[in-house]
Amino acid sequence: MRKVAFTVAAILLARSHAEDTGYEAGFSDFRQEWIQEPLTIKGTLPEWLVGGAHVMNGVALWGFPKRRMRHNLDGYAKVHAVEFTSSTTAAFSGQFVRSAFYNASIKKDDVTAGLLFEETTPPRLALPLQNALAPNDNININVVRINGKMALISDLLGTVYVNETMGTEEVCVDGHMPWAKQSFVDVPAFPEGMAVTMGSAHPLSHGLSADRDTGDYLGIAAATQAVSFQPIKSEYLRLFRAKVETGWQHREEVITLAVPRAPYMHAFGLVTPEGAKSGPVANYSFAVLVHHPFYMDLTEEFPRYKIPMEEIWEFKTEEKAFFYVVDLHNNTLVANLTFNGEPFLYSHVLNSFQVDGHIYIDLVAYRDIFFKRYSFDVLLNKTARDASTGSQMLRFKLDIATGSVTEQDLLPGTDIELPTINEYFKGRQNCYAWSWENNFELPTNTSTGATGFARMAATKFDLCESEKQEKTIRTPFYRPHTYYGETFFVPRPGSTQEDDGVVLVPALDGQRGRMALLVLDAATMKLVAEVPLPEGVGGYITHTRFLFDYAKSDTLQALFV
Ligand SMILES: [Fe+2]
Repeated sequence: MRKVAFTVAAILLARSHAEDTGYEAGFSDFRQEWIQEPLTIKGTLPEWLVGGAHVMNGVALWGFPKRRMRHNLDGYAKVHAVEFTSSTTAAFSGQFVRSAFYNASIKKDDVTAGLLFEETTPPRLALPLQNALAPNDNININVVRINGKMALISDLLGTVYVNETMGTEEVCVDGHMPWAKQSFVDVPAFPEGMAVTMGSAHPLSHGLSADRDTGDYLGIAAATQAVSFQPIKSEYLRLFRAKVETGWQHREEVITLAVPRAPYMHAFGLVTPEGAKSGPVANYSFAVLVHHPFYMDLTEEFPRYKIPMEEIWEFKTEEKAFFYVVDLHNNTLVANLTFNGEPFLYSHVLNSFQVDGHIYIDLVAYRDIFFKRYSFDVLLNKTARDASTGSQMLRFKLDIATGSVTEQDLLPGTDIELPTINEYFKGRQNCYAWSWENNFELPTNTSTGATGFARMAATKFDLCESEKQEKTIRTPFYRPHTYYGETFFVPRPGSTQEDDGVVLVPALDGQRGRMALLVLDAATMKLVAEVPLPEGVGGYITHTRFLFDYAKSDTLQALFV
């Protein structure tokens, strides 16, 4: 009997080794750090990338021997940067963000207090409100640049700034990295008794990263009654403006919408005047906010707050979704449209634009709570991850005159995340998107590699042709057992052609257990160059940004001094 069991186990082991090689190992802890490690590039970079750096937010540590995290996005923030020092050389830095959460955890060799998507194994012992009142400064989602300063942001109300001035609240990294933690100022303040529980990890700039992100940012914030003994009368959704001169934390109201309940919203859209040329926009015409029925119910959990966060997410499939269109010339709500179709929720907004007076918005949409996919119960279990609900790229057409909203599956048969566009086309109709794909459908007669969720590609999609032909038109890049992060499009300076540039994408070669930053031709998706990263680099990359003139900025250099 024992022998049979051993044989079965051996077969299972062999099968799991053959499928998705190295995928799960990508979620091991990667604790090593680097500062300005010299690298040799395979191939030759376009000259115009030299002097810039690709900065990647992410996570690379999920606990300690005595206690482990259970959700990918709970991991400790680690920032990686690949600086292109010449067309054949690069310098690599990778550092954990010395947040108060990280510092306390390292000191105790344990996961300390703070809100997590899922409670740890074994669970932490927490006093009432202890997690809610913890610093909650593990900002591991996005990276933006405002007024020449790089900032790490997420949906949490925190920002990690690389700040050249020494403040009283700063947190130093290895004694010489000045992170400064600052608090938000909302103007006007939200009503008494409200807790501003969420910001947005995807503010949209009037400038563009390719233009050094000059320009104001627009963003969204939600005010909810997190702690209340009274019935909720109204909650608030606000579109705000963060001006260059006052910085990211000073948020001036554009419009505040009173809603019965404020949803969790990760992203929104901006629309240029119709017919506007590609490039930076001084004045957008509209903002589009999509109120999906996806909520965080914090009131139910008061006063415990030591609850697993997975219990507070609510996808109210019996409720409708609403599309709010804000006129940015006079800061008024010009349309509040109800969508009567199948309930959905969404993670990201690809783009929004107007054609012939109609407004369109493209969303990475789901029919189930997408956070579940990034639980280790799912990610590290092949059966569960292959069975998890995938995304759809849904295009919604808003007819303001008639009040109708129609939906179209723009890229049938795809399962994508973290898509990007040429930012010069933000707010105007674009034809291309770049994204990683899960459950990638290999062309016939092609070698298999990983299967299901872990079978990935880095893909260029032709949205215009896909819409015309009512099928997905794509140009993929893929290798056996290779797993991709965000595909970030960088436009070639001076070019107006939408797909003229490169796509930068971190890729884990599961068979070798090594990560590289790939430089792909954005038009053809052919490999231009490859930057092999040092042994020991790993973890999950969230959002990324290419920063031109990295080497010239003292502020940015402070990140990895
Ligand atoms: Fe995001």
